[in-house]
Amino acid sequence: MDFGFTRGDTIVVTGAGSGIGKAIALMAARAGLRVSAWDLAEAAILATVAEIQADGGDAVAAVADIGDPAAVARALSEAGPVRYLVNNAGPASSRELDFNDALAATVGTVQAVTDAWLRTGPAEGSAVVNIASVAGNYVGTDSAWYSAGKAAIAGYTRHLATRRAPAIRANAIAPGFIATPRMTGFAASELGQSLVERNPMRRAGHADDVAGAVLFLLSPLAAYINGVLLPVDGGWVVTQ
Ligand SMILES: NC(=O)c1ccc[n+]([C@@H]2O[C@H](COP(=O)([O-])OP(=O)(O)OC[C@H]3O[C@@H](n4cnc5c(N)ncnc54)[C@H](O)[C@@H]3O)[C@@H](O)[C@H]2O)c1
Repeated sequence: MDFGFTRGDTIVVTGAGSGIGKAIALMAARAGLRVSAWDLAEAAILATVAEIQADGGDAVAAVADIGDPAAVARALSEAGPVRYLVNNAGPASSRELDFNDALAATVGTVQAVTDAWLRTGPAEGSAVVNIASVAGNYVGTDSAWYSAGKAAIAGYTRHLATRRAPAIRANAIAPGFIATPRMTGFAASELGQSLVERNPMRRAGHADDVAGAVLFLLSPLAAYINGVLLPVDGGWVVTQ
């Protein structure tokens, strides 16, 4: 898998213990990157790293809650110089959370991790990809905090793209309905089924569909792509 990365450059992926983050971590290792895989779930992140190593890749695990600045600082210093950052971890939209607390957990964490990374002085050619959502950016959803938080991630990405380039590039991904562990119940529901039926691709997304787009946006192949919000949704938003 050749995205043109320099072998051994380090990528941090938050929430790499499951779903989309795990797929990004596995694909990044196959693309020659050294993976610093972060998650608050210890068993899950150790399993991701073991899988990468069994596949011949290079990875280290960090048990870190991105809402804890001390844990973020520790994980970053253990990672060494980080060229690529993927802000993927965030609370599930199905959770009942206080609006302000949830915004802090959704977009405040993205800002905090990115800011800590920027303070390390990433090398030229560095890039970040933030995982937003079609929710809040293209469609409204039931969860007030999720819609607001994911739209805020897109706005924060535009800030980075305009105020931090050319030192880094910043882009965001808006996944549609992606079949990951957190979506298992939804996939089986009537609404989940109808979403698939109304999707031009007639299926839910795979985590690898998102991972490929993330790695492309980080890679030298996307050297002049900065500030985009890329839907990875099978064309669902253009049918709405
Ligand atoms: N699955 C979808 O349909 C979909 C759609 C749009 C956006 N997204 C976004 O993609 C991202 C990943 O979702 P997923 O479906 O892969 O979820 P998932 O539940 O499969 O995986 C999320 C991982 O993040 C970890 N995590 C959660 N909070 C954390 C924290 N504070 N610190 C460290 N790790 C933390 C969890 O332990 C878990 O391993 C989320 O930001 C989500 O909002 C998902």
